[in-house]
Amino acid sequence: MPSLYSSYSLKGHSISNRLVMPPMVCFNWSDEKGFVTDEHVKHYEKRGLGQVGLVVVEATAISKFGRLADSQLGIWKHEQVEGLSKISRAIGTQGSKSLLQIHHAGDKAPKTVASEPLAPSTYELKDGRSTKALTLGEIKGIQKEFLIAALRAEEAGFDGIEIHGAHGYLINQFLSPLTNLREDLYGGSFENRMRFVRELLTLLKDNLPEDFIIGYRHGGNTPTLSEGIEISRELEKMGVDLLHISAGIAKDDDLPKPPESFPYSWIVYTGVETKKSVNIPVVVVNGIRTPEEAEPLVEEGLADFVAVGRGLLVDSQWILKAEQGQPVNPCLRCTPRCFYLIDGTKCPQYSKA
Ligand SMILES: Cc1cc2nc3c(=O)[nH]c(=O)nc-3n(C[C@H](O)[C@H](O)[C@H](O)COP(=O)(O)O)c2cc1C
Repeated sequence: MPSLYSSYSLKGHSISNRLVMPPMVCFNWSDEKGFVTDEHVKHYEKRGLGQVGLVVVEATAISKFGRLADSQLGIWKHEQVEGLSKISRAIGTQGSKSLLQIHHAGDKAPKTVASEPLAPSTYELKDGRSTKALTLGEIKGIQKEFLIAALRAEEAGFDGIEIHGAHGYLINQFLSPLTNLREDLYGGSFENRMRFVRELLTLLKDNLPEDFIIGYRHGGNTPTLSEGIEISRELEKMGVDLLHISAGIAKDDDLPKPPESFPYSWIVYTGVETKKSVNIPVVVVNGIRTPEEAEPLVEEGLADFVAVGRGLLVDSQWILKAEQGQPVNPCLRCTPRCFYLIDGTKCPQYSKA
């Protein structure tokens, strides 16, 4: 029976345990140039020293115009590779494996990044801006930027990439009929909405080394749980190696409803339900803080990996303490929002992490 402390072999990479650090942008540590800072290197080195099995490094922008914030890390320029390679080295010192999450915000680029954000279709945003529907040439251009980013991630020493296909960002916008209103080959039917990601995966598979891990963070309820699962099955057929199931674009009424006895969130439920329909490994995430919450998910075969986000922000030694039966530092669930969304050095647990 697998446990949270069992290793897992993925494409020849031995991942020493089932704990994943999910991608989490460290806001305001960088600037509009998107370079890695010493603060980032220290942050990831700690989780490497803490022997997290797999660290997915924060959303890193493939294009300056696709950033989700001014201070987001970037991989749109070759000069950014050097700093990123410091992160991959820092993670790997004790054998942890690393993926770099590559990302385009699409319509979620803030005003300071894009006056007219790029999206599958033209529509008005809540802040009064309009999106610009991508032309066919621009679609090919963005797919190529994803490829260049993946090649740079490999050059920077990462074991793989995670494509950000969740949380309402560009790829998720293509998949959801709520944001993809196109009437050409990239919109309308399920097959057409999948075309952006299908072409992207073909491009990546054709150009990346055989042992380079291609992970995908999927908005698993896009636009409903059943279609989200269908998308996951397609992603598996297209050669995705690891699925990380989080939230996507759906109407509130369509959110998955776990049975009352299910002790985790609907996002974890979405991951658990997805796992039943695919053969590739699945990472579940959301609100899992303690080893007691994480262990049964792996032991009962509900998931292959468990991602603990804020829990790892407040305790880099999480898995080492868990294995020894020691309590982990608690996340204080700060309101109105987590300090890492402003500046992680202000997190009340920062010095204890
Ligand atoms: C400060 C912060 C930054 C985040 N940045 C990202 C990101 O870069 N990419 C992403 O896919 N999700 C991001 N997320 C979502 C997390 O990966 C994770 O799904 C979420 O925190 C829920 O997991 P948790 O309850 O274990 O923290 C972020 C969350 C936080 C708190």
